[in-house]
This record gives sequence, structure tokens and C-alpha cells, in this order.
Amino acid sequence: MKVVRTPAKLERVPGTGLVPTMGALHEGHLALLRAARAENESVVMSLFVNPAQFDEEADLAAYPRDEARDLELAEAEGVDVVLAPDADELYPPGFSTWVEPTEAGAEGAARPGHFRGVATICLKLFNAVRPDRAYFGQKDARQVAVIRRLVRDLDVPVEVRVVPTVRDGDGLALSSRNARLSAAERELALGLPRALESAAGAADPVAAARASLNGLEPDYVELVDLDGATVLAAAVRVGSVRLLDNVLLKGEIR
Ligand code: PAJ
Repeated sequence: MKVVRTPAKLERVPGTGLVPTMGALHEGHLALLRAARAENESVVMSLFVNPAQFDEEADLAAYPRDEARDLELAEAEGVDVVLAPDADELYPPGFSTWVEPTEAGAEGAARPGHFRGVATICLKLFNAVRPDRAYFGQKDARQVAVIRRLVRDLDVPVEVRVVPTVRDGDGLALSSRNARLSAAERELALGLPRALESAAGAADPVAAARASLNGLEPDYVELVDLDGATVLAAAVRVGSVRLLDNVLLKGEIR
């Protein structure tokens, strides 16, 4: 496995799958790496905590980092190349061009600037790696919708593949932020997947999810369209941690 610090040092390989990550790898990321490994000649994983997408300074500072462990996990999944640049490399002095998604739903409204940071870094990664396919998790459903829109609107020659959400045994979607939950907070957090699951069959799933999230602070509950599939998505705050989740209402995730 090669570790590359500069996009300019990447070699373009036909049949490449790209898995963008911010590290702190868990089984959710590994599921993306396995999907990419199964479908491509070459797998590139990017490892970059993108400062531009953090709308809260404290969240960026608290973001877990352990590059040595991430590289070991990536190697064990058969990753060919890890692109792990410094922030200066991707945002050099004078950087001033941004991709601004104008339709980013309730998640976008709740996090001003977030999807501009995500869209900009993903376009930069697509241009650096020029992958045939790029892999994203269903857990971040609005992110998938924003990236699909970006790819269409800006004519990026990449196929966006979506991998189902990986959960812990108790049903909580895996997230690097879960480590910041106390035992009591984690119990509260389980109200999120439970509310979404129970609301999925209701006539008005958004209202039903809101009603059964009692006790939790929902940032929002919204429907997200993923190219023919509809998911019921919500974000809640438990203590200092913001958690996202969604369940499929209809259609098929591709
Ligand atoms: P990060 O949070 O590291 O997530 C990297 C990828 O893993 C995303 O596509 C995310 O949806 C997916 N993922 C996270 N948890 C998952 C789970 N429990 N099951 C399945 N997939 C999961 O998302 C980002 O980084 C960044 O915004 C990025 C796209 C890398 C741009 O900076």
C-alpha cells in the first residue's frame, strides 16, 4: 500500500474506486472499502479531516485522529493507495474557489457552510484521483444527494455508489462521534434509530418520527430523495454530540 501526501504524485489507474474518508475508521468505512475492493482494479482511500466542512470549531478540534491505526486498517482491506495530504496542500494560501450546493435540505440549513466544504473537497478529490466509481455511506443521506447533484451539474465522470448504513448490535449507526457519548447518553441516542424505524410505516412518517423522538432534541426530520429511493432522515443532539440517521421508506438504494 502506498501513502501519497500530494495529489500531484498520484498515478491515474484505469478501474479505480475512491473512498473519501476523514479517518477514525470504523466498520462503516470498512464496508465502503470492501465494496470498492470488490468492484475495482485499484482502490484509493483519501484520509483528510477537511477543515472547510466543520461549522463548529470545537467539533474540528475534538475530531478523533489516529493515522497509524487507519493505515493499518486500510492495508488489511486491500487498499492500494492512501491519499493523506496536509491541509496546506489542498487549501494553499490564496485558495478562493468554492462549490456551493444551493439545495441541501434541512441538514444544509442546520449546518451553514458544511456542504460547500464537502462539495469542494469531493470535487478536488475526484479531480485528483479521477476514479471510475466513488463510494459514500447511506448514513449521510443528504451528503449522497449533494454529491450526486454535483456530479450531474458539473459533468464529473464518476459513478456514485451508495453503501447501506452499518450499525452496532444495539441499532445505533456507527459514527466516529459515538465515542464521545457516555453510557447514559448512548441509551438516549438509541431513541433515534428506534423512532425512525417505528415511523417508517406511518401515513405521515415525518410527523410520526417527531412524535416518537420525545425526550430527544431533533434538529430536524426530513425526507431525502436518493435517485428513486426516499429515506426518512433526522439529526438529534445528545449532550455535545450531533447524531444523524435515516431509514429507507421506499425504492431501492443504488
Ligand atoms: P467520514 O465521516 O469519515 O465518512 C466517510 C464515509 O463513510 C462517508 O461516505 C460516510 O457516509 C460513510 N460512513 C460513515 N459512517 C457510516 C456507517 N455507519 N455506515 C456506512 N457508511 C458510513 O463523510 C465524510 O467523512 C466526509 O464528509 C467526506 C465525504 C470524506 C468529505 O470530507
